[in-house]
Parts: sequence; C-alpha cells; structure tokens
Amino acid sequence: IADVHNDIDHELVSKERIDEKIREVAAQASDDYRDKNPLLIAVLKGAVNTIAAFSQAMSIPVQLDFMSLSSYGSGTVSSGEVTIRQDLSTDVRGRHVLIVEDIIDSGRTLAWLVDELKRRGTASVEIFALLEKPSRREVDVDVKYHGYEIPDEFVVGFGLDYDERYRNLDSIAVLKPAVYQGDNA
Ligand code: PRP
Ligand code: MN
Ligand code: MG
Repeated sequence: IADVHNDIDHELVSKERIDEKIREVAAQASDDYRDKNPLLIAVLKGAVNTIAAFSQAMSIPVQLDFMSLSSYGSGTVSSGEVTIRQDLSTDVRGRHVLIVEDIIDSGRTLAWLVDELKRRGTASVEIFALLEKPSRREVDVDVKYHGYEIPDEFVVGFGLDYDERYRNLDSIAVLKPAVYQGDNA
C-alpha cells in the first residue's frame, strides 16, 4: 500500500522543529507588524503549508493572499523569467507585505516577486523563508525572517514536492534514491 513515509530515506527537519521555528518567527513578526495590518502573500503551491501554520501562529489580525508563478526555461535551469499563472486578488498599494515562502533555492522566484510588488506600490516588502539553501543562491534576496539552512539535497514535505507528490508529508525529508530512479525508468 502506498504510504508517503515508506519513500523517505531520512528526515531533515522534524514536524516539531518546523513548528518550533514557525512559532518563534510568528511571535517576532506579530510584534513587528502590530498596527500595520500586514498582508501575508504565499507563492503557490509550495508555501501553502508554511503560510497556514505561520498565520495561525501569529497573534495579530493578518490578511492572506496567494500568487501562482511559473518560471520559463528548461526543467532544470531557471531562466529567472517569471510569469504570473494566477494573480493576487488584493490591491497591494500602500500595504505592508510579508512574503511567506517554503524554500529559497536560486532566489530568482523571490527576487522577481519582490521587484513586482514594489512596482505595484507596496509600503514595505519583507520575506520569511522556512528553508534556505545558501550554496545554491544565484541572486541576492534580502530575507528578514530566517528558518533553517539546509544542504544542497533535494527535499520534500510540508508543501515541497517531487513531481507534485509528497507535499502532504508533515516533515521535511529526503527521498530514497529508488523513488527517483523508478520515475526515470
Ligand atoms: C519552488 C519553491 C520556491 C522556488 C524556489 O517552487 O517552492 O517557490 O521553487 O526556487 P528559486 O529560489 O530557485 O526560485 P516551484 O517552482 O517548484 O513550484 P511549487 O511551489 O508549486 O512547487
Ligand atoms: Mn514554490
Ligand atoms: Mg516545486
């Protein structure tokens, strides 16, 4: 019987550590954004779990919105050209925006989004990234709220996918090599 947990090689960040970090950052952000009526924006689909947990851990009223982005270019190489698959439903002009992201890899998705939001006239734009792979960074992105730094391993879970699967895993993990090999066969 198929079970997401059977495909895990090893866990990188447990659900307890995810929860702990999110609550710590949410407490800080609640403090920083008091009286600012913040708008939390998540990039679909990977950031869904993070924004859900993060927003619930915040103690001040927040608004939520979502944007679906796609990068052009071949599967493995990100060109940095981003198009909007589904836009926000909120006018961000004059708003204090906090982008909530699951992972920063090259940084190209967020570099583009920060520019785009500033173009639209936001009052401020900051970033919370649950995971970062510093060794993979190609462009500079100013992250205000940091989660965990991880090595350059392909990870899934808590929103992150491999070929659209494993997003529903409740921790961050590395898959067994056989999972990838099976798909290439
Ligand atoms: C992943 C991840 C980040 C982005 C990071 O999203 O969720 O949004 O890549 O990569 P970057 O820093 O190199 O831009 P993906 O494009 O896989 O879409 P998804 O969130 O729907 O899985
Ligand atoms: Mn994503
Ligand atoms: Mg993905």
